[in-house]
Amino acid sequence: MISASILSADFSRLREEILNVVEAGADRIHLDVMDGHFVPNLTFGPPVIRSLGKTPCPMDAHLMVEKPEAYIEPFASIGCEVITVHVETTHHLHKLLSSIREAGCMAGVSLNPATPPVAIQPVLPFVDVILVMTVNPGFGGQKIIPEVLDKTREIRAMIDKSGFDIVLEVDGGIKVENIAEVARAGAARFVVGSGIFKTSDYRTTIETLKRNVADAHALSI
Ligand code: DX5
Ligand code: ZN
Repeated sequence: MISASILSADFSRLREEILNVVEAGADRIHLDVMDGHFVPNLTFGPPVIRSLGKTPCPMDAHLMVEKPEAYIEPFASIGCEVITVHVETTHHLHKLLSSIREAGCMAGVSLNPATPPVAIQPVLPFVDVILVMTVNPGFGGQKIIPEVLDKTREIRAMIDKSGFDIVLEVDGGIKVENIAEVARAGAARFVVGSGIFKTSDYRTTIETLKRNVADAHALSI
């Protein structure tokens, strides 16, 4: 499943970009919400997304903000399917994840490249999506950090052992050229920003991304 990060889209034509990328085969729209504190960049909040009107596929909010508690209700009310918070941003992870589910959304937890899997192990029963950062969050267009693939494999094993129905998603530096390797590390959902929006033909790019994932799975059987 491909989730298109609109961080690398043309913001002056944001609605058109969203419609185009979904028409081209993106399964989800990934919203990178940044506050200039947790990460050194600022993006957008619920009013901007609300102004775009209804999107033709579900949206995921990736909250790279301090005090994420304040943003659960606003993002739930604009209809996000998943709200993902960073384990590094809260002292009360269990409570925060529970509040996301109580707001009617799927609860996602994300880890920065330097954060070990053990940080999220205690909350597995309260999580629907684990988002492994394969770059340091803050900017689109960065190179994947290959060492994070070992951690992705570890988290895959942790999920499988737990028996919980948790989606393993990766975010950062995913491209046509490396998506197969990331799929083999156990990811099932892939956030792709510049790897789609900086190409000229979104449809061909998304088809190739999906084919490379399917081939990676076929070869590993
Ligand atoms: C990084 C964001 C990512 C980013 C992905 O902080 O969380 O979602 O936009 O962009 P690419 O695919 O260009 O690395
Ligand atoms: Zn993201």
